[in-house]
This record gives sequence, C-alpha cells and structure tokens, in this order.
Amino acid sequence: MSNVAVVGAQWGDEGKGKVVDIYSARADVIVRCQGGNNAGHTLVVGGEKIILHHIPSGILHETKTCVIANGVVMDPGVLLREIEGLAKNGRKVTPENLVISESAHVILPFHKAIDAAREIAAGKGKIGTTGRGIGPCYEDKASRRGVRVGDLIRPEKLRERITASIDEKNALLKHLGAKTFTVDEIIAELTPQAEAIKPFAKDTFALLNELCEAGKTFLFEGAQGALLDIDNGTFPFVTSSNTGSGGMITGTGLGPKTLGKVVGITKAYVTRVGSGPFPTELECETGEALRNRGAEFGSTTGRPRRCGWLDLVALRHAVRMNGLDGLAVTKIDVLGGSDEIKICTAYELDGKTITHFPGRIEELERCKPVYETIPGWNDEISGSKTVAELPPNAIALLKRIEELSGCPVYLASVGPGRESTIEIRSPFA
Ligand code: IMP
Repeated sequence: MSNVAVVGAQWGDEGKGKVVDIYSARADVIVRCQGGNNAGHTLVVGGEKIILHHIPSGILHETKTCVIANGVVMDPGVLLREIEGLAKNGRKVTPENLVISESAHVILPFHKAIDAAREIAAGKGKIGTTGRGIGPCYEDKASRRGVRVGDLIRPEKLRERITASIDEKNALLKHLGAKTFTVDEIIAELTPQAEAIKPFAKDTFALLNELCEAGKTFLFEGAQGALLDIDNGTFPFVTSSNTGSGGMITGTGLGPKTLGKVVGITKAYVTRVGSGPFPTELECETGEALRNRGAEFGSTTGRPRRCGWLDLVALRHAVRMNGLDGLAVTKIDVLGGSDEIKICTAYELDGKTITHFPGRIEELERCKPVYETIPGWNDEISGSKTVAELPPNAIALLKRIEELSGCPVYLASVGPGRESTIEIRSPFA
C-alpha cells in the first residue's frame, strides 16, 4: 500500500483533522512532522467534538503508532494536558501508541512570553500569531540554542541549556517590557513535565526508518497550510515551519520517496486567521454568513476567522508547492443556501491578468480577484454518500475545481461527522 501525506492547501483550518482521522484507519503509523500546538485539529466522532493540538489524530484508533517527529516544536504542559484529556474520555495514550522524538524542540516559558510581547510591541503590524511561542522556539532551533526533548529528560543537560541562554532571553524580554525568568523557576516548571514525558521519548529517526523498512503504511499529518509556509507562503504573515510536503521529509528524517500520495485539503471557500493579504476576502454580509454557517472560529485561539470565496490561483500554488496528487474538498455543505457561489480563477494586478500566485507580498496586496460564478443550491447535502447524490450545481463546482487546479478530487466532505464523507478515490492504492 502507498503511504499518504495530508497537507493543508490554504491558510490552515482546512479540515485536515477529519480527513486524517478517516485515512488513519488505513495506516499503521501516523506522524506529525512540523508545527506545534498552534495547530488545532478538530474531530467529531460519534457526535463528540475532540480538538487535538499536539497528538496525531490517529490516536483515536488505539492500535496505531502515533509519532511526534523531530520537526515538531512541543509544549510539554499542553501535551500532558492533552494526554490527560484523552484518558478522561477513555482513550489510552501510552508509550505503545505515542512516541515523541528526542530531537523535537521544546517550547519554553520564555518563548511564549517573547511571542506575546513582540505581538504587543508590533501594534498594527503584528503577525497575529497564536501566541504559543512557535516562532521564538524555531528561532532557537535555527540559532542552535534550543532545548530538545532529549535535553528536557536529562536534568543536567536541561539546566545547562537553559543557563546558557537565559541572559539573552531576559535582555530581550526587558527590552520588550515583559517579565523576566530565572533558571530555577523554569526548571521547577519543567522537571515534573519532563518526568511524565520521558517514557514517550525515543530516537524517532531510527524508529520511523525501521518501520518504513518493515513495510508499515504511513500517514503523514500536515499542520497549518501551504500559504503559511515560511519559504513559499505569504511571508512575513506565515508560521515558522515548512508546512508543505517538503517539511515532512526534513521533519521526520525519512527519504523523499517515502511520502507516497500527497493529498491537499481545501475548503470549498477560504478562511484565514491572523494578519496578511487575502485577495478573495469577503468583508461583508456574505463573509459573515460563511463564518456563522461554517462555525469559523479558531479551534486554538477562538478568534473569528476571516472568510472569502475559493481562490484557485492560491490553490494552484499549493498544488505546485506540494506536488499534490489529489484534493479533499471540505465544508461543501456550508455553501448551501447561497443563490450563487464565486470562485476566483485569476488575479488582476496593475491592469494585467495573472494566473500565478505572486511571490512578493506587496504584489499580492494589490491583486484583485477575477471571479467565475456558479449557481448555488438549497438542498441539504450532509447525507449524500456519492457524488451522484449531490445537487448538479455542487457537482459542477467540484468539476471546476478539478479543471482549474489540475488535480482530481479524492474526497468530498459534506458535514462535520465521519459519516458525512464522499470518498471518490482512496489515495492508499
Ligand atoms: P504562529 O504559528 O503562532 O507563529 O502564527 C503565525 C501565523 O500562522 C498566524 O497568522 C496564525 O494565525 C497562523 N497559524 C498558525 N497555526 C495555524 C493553524 O493551525 N491554523 C490556521 N492558522 C494558523
């Protein structure tokens, strides 16, 4: 069986959690490769809503091996609360079904403080981060000052690493007008967490490569989305990791051919949280209606999401960047009840029509969407089990998405539950 990688093809929040949950039933190993608890993967199972920030969604299938790999940044307190929350719901998380890379970097208390203080200092120019310390943690990884899980679980090493960077961090926090930290208070907070995390920590480079050589089927679980990618997204309004299929390679230590089929998740419209350009944004009643019908409020921060029409220019960018084999189109039901639906097929930039996504944010900010209109539908579609059961205009929408993106639709999601899913083709060939 082919391995499968699931990536966000927009600005995050595309409904990856649901697709990963469905696909993970067919995989042996489910891996998170990048990002941290800035992600919030929402799953609805048997009417119960579960939001996971760190743990791969495959944990809901108890017999799977879930791995938080080296490319992830991990907040120990959040991870432990998530493990406790799942246990309260009768879902056991043990070192048998969850493994954390010793090479993953740890989000430290000062990372969160720096993230928050920088956003306040930036005022209107803020990125609109999730405030989880993601950027400062990845900065420390790149500058080789970070604390990895392997350091966290070795008390002497932990003290040595924190001591080496505390003065610099405190100088920065002072400059930003924020509270400073002592080594002892950080160690006191981290020590019990480190003890609890120790049994889960392993060399995942070796483990993942061995499982791969043993012929196990992998599902790579992406976080955030293509347009939030640090290199190929809408910089500087991006996250601090490589959110595409490329990040899954460096984030696990597996070779590039391991990924198998790459499936991009896109909503049937677009949402974005945080700042930055968004050419098809609807700052009007139509956008408000999408937000309410689609319950578009952040699962990590609760912030209202900005909403707009589906942008095929941006989607083609995601297709190229990830080498997408297929798409999963989610939240098609949310478009029901509209007289007409628009999709953006090109941009107008300085009087010229362009069909590529500009690399420079100043250009993207000047882009005006060129729309094509598709008539809407009023039928309730969440019970549809096949494409043929969908209203003709919903089928026309899916066809147009395929034509304009150059990618077949593998899966169509017509409601939040597992059962409201139309699978057209399985990527696990
Ligand atoms: P950070 O990742 O917290 O540094 O935030 C950087 C940008 O990425 C902000 O615009 C966030 O709103 C956005 N972002 C980060 N993670 C997610 C996610 O999982 N879904 C949607 N947006 C996200």
